[in-house]
Formats: sequence, structure tokens, C-alpha cells
Amino acid sequence: MKKVGVAILGVGVVGGGTYETLVSHHDFYMKTQQVDITVEAVLDRNIERLQAMGIAEELIAKNIEEIIANPNVDIVIETIGGVDVAKEFVTKALRAAKTVVTSNKELICKYSHELEKIAKRNHCGLYYEASCVGGVPIIRTLLDGVQGNNIHSMMGIVNGTTNYILTKMTQDGTDYAEALQEAQKLGYAEADPTADVEGIDSMYKLSILSSMAFHTKIPYTKIMREGISHIDANDIAFGHEIGYTMKLLAIGKHEGDGVDVRVHPTFIPHNHPLASVNDSFNAVYLQGDAVGDVMLYGRGAGAFPTASAVVSDVIYAATHSELRYSTFKNNAQPESHVKFLSDFTSSYYLRLFIDDRLGALAKITGILGKCGVSIVEISQKPKGMFGANSDRVPLIITTYKTKENSVKNAVAKLNASGLASVEAVIRIES
Ligand code: HSE
Repeated sequence: MKKVGVAILGVGVVGGGTYETLVSHHDFYMKTQQVDITVEAVLDRNIERLQAMGIAEELIAKNIEEIIANPNVDIVIETIGGVDVAKEFVTKALRAAKTVVTSNKELICKYSHELEKIAKRNHCGLYYEASCVGGVPIIRTLLDGVQGNNIHSMMGIVNGTTNYILTKMTQDGTDYAEALQEAQKLGYAEADPTADVEGIDSMYKLSILSSMAFHTKIPYTKIMREGISHIDANDIAFGHEIGYTMKLLAIGKHEGDGVDVRVHPTFIPHNHPLASVNDSFNAVYLQGDAVGDVMLYGRGAGAFPTASAVVSDVIYAATHSELRYSTFKNNAQPESHVKFLSDFTSSYYLRLFIDDRLGALAKITGILGKCGVSIVEISQKPKGMFGANSDRVPLIITTYKTKENSVKNAVAKLNASGLASVEAVIRIES
């Protein structure tokens, strides 16, 4: 039976889950995968944690050099996170011709082009299923399941923390600050929640997934990003009343040479498959030209769901003699013919505060009309609702599909009119 030795760099939540999964399933993998995978070394600054996990002293490496020099280590698992130390260690492992399996989305998003070149030069593999959407096998699906399709659209709830917060705000009417506090108490959100709530985590994942789905590098710098920290629970409630559920979506659309990639809070109809993905669950919804709609659902974070993805790469690398790299030219920039669309098309939900005086509504609808924004529904709310001051009334407008720049132009003109202030702009996907 083939013997494969692994080393784990960073034995925290994900690395620890990976260690336990590899040890507890050792015999199972021998039986089902015909491969004998043994943990040969671990590296972590927190030696007490390693000892508390019952890891034998002789497996605890002193430094990366010891792991690189260990002839029994074939595969190096990187579960450190961040880009500084992780990049240095992954580079060293690849240069020593050791295949790397990583769960590190920021590293892959920013440096996959560099790291893949080093891997190719040294005839070893670089695998990163766990970098996106934890235990949901989305990268494997893109590479091995739907690769026969032209994927024209991908929409994902790829961040559990924000999905938990939005679910709380939707179901309990909780405001953002309270829902965030609860997410922190449950250990979903970090003490500094910026990366999650401002959509940065989702942006990194979308960069990796859309590069794979659309077969060209999609740098994260090309992704439009808006987080959820400004969302008012009243908009969620009102949107809900008129048929929409709010989700933080990572959206990728591809048509011809045009690519439209963005992360933002989005209203989707209640009957959309993603609308029922609640709490900290994640899901990715794909549309391919042959298969039609496909949706994958599961846990996007946590020790064992993420370990499941790491181990899946380890088994893949251990049982395939041919190395596999990206299906696109993995450079820092996309190929020159690719056009990024900033002026995409969407429907919109707008909330305004308007002056409560004769003719105001006519002037406001006139501004929208002149900017090419066509109204589907308009609803004036009682004074005082949404915290409008005593002279102003809230006005909710939904629009037909229109260009992003037309809406931006209309918002600027409405704000400059002296009659209204635009308080919320939320894109609607159907
Ligand atoms: N912080 C992420 C989330 C998990 O909340 O989904 C790791 O990417």
C-alpha cells in the first residue's frame, strides 16, 4: 500500500481538526482509499496546545527547516493563515519539492500565480479546496464536476459570520450591533470583525472561485465590495414584506469577454434557493450552460468541516500521480481581452427621506425618470418611521433593471435636489 507522510503547519482550529481527522480516520482511509497517510510532523508556536492534544514529542518540529529536511514528509499542510509566515513556509516547502495543501484563502487569492509557478518548477502540487467555503466541495465541483460547462453565473453565501448576522436581523428584527455581538459571543465573529462584515473574506473567496469558474485570473482588486455594517434592520423588514430576503452575496457573471464580479448585500426573492440558507451555513449556486442550476450547501467554517476539505486534497494528492494546476493562465493579471464591467445591470431597492410637501413626489420621480431609472413600486411610509425627522417621510422605491451608473447618477441628483436624502441603496437579484 502507498505510504504518504504529512506535516501540519499551524495546529489551531483547522490544523487541529485536520490532525484529529487524519489520526482517527487512518484505518478508514487505508480501507477505502488504499493509502496509508501518517502525520510525520507538526509545527506550532504553542507547544502546550500540541502536548494537550496528545501529540507525541518526536512529532513536534522545532522549525520549518526540520520539516523541509524530513524525507518522510511528502505533503505539507498549511493551516497557519495570513500571508507573511504562511507564504514563507509554503514557498520553502514547494522549493523542497513537497506538495502543499492549504486552507489559506488570502494566500491563494493574492499569490497563487507565484506559488503555482514554484510548484511547477519543482514538480510538486499545490491544492486549496479548504480555502473557499470550508467543507463545501466547491473547488472540486468546478474542476471535476461541472468542468464541461460554460459557467455563466455564480452566486454564493460564502461567509458564515455575516449570514448569521443577517439571519438574526431578519428573523428577530435585531439591529446590526446586537446581532454582531451575538455572533461574537458564539465564536463566529472575531473581536475585530472587519474582514467578515466588510466583505473582505467573501471578496478573497470570490476571486479564487470566479478565476476557476471563468478560466481567467480575477484579481481581488477588480471586485466591487460593500459590506453589511451599514444595513438597517428596518430595510430588511420592509424588503421582507415586499417579497425579498437579504443576503451578503458574492456574485460572478460572465458573458463573452465581460466579467462582472461583486460582493454586496443583496435582496433575493423568498423562493430563491439561496434565501433559505440561514444561520452560519454557506452555499454556492451555479448556472452552467449544459447542467443548468447546481447548488452546494454546507458548513463554510469550523474545525471538522474545513478539515474535511483539507483531507480531501491530501487524499487527492496521495492517490493521483499526475499533478494538477489551474485551468487558466495563472498570472497576477487576467488575460488582456477580459473586460470588467463596473456599470452592470441590476434592479434596486431605494429608501429615501423626502420633504413632506406638495409636488415633492412628482419632482423625485421626475429625477429618476430623467436618469433612466424606471420604477416598479413606490410606497410612502408614515412620518417618523425609519427615524426620519418630523418634516420628512420615508419613501421606498423598487426599480426595473437598470445600469448601476444610472442609479448612482440619480442618487447624486436626488441628494443635491434639496428635497430628499437617499438613505439606502440595495441591489436586487432575481
Ligand atoms: N470567517 C469566515 C466565515 C470563515 O465567517 O465564514 C473562514 O473563511
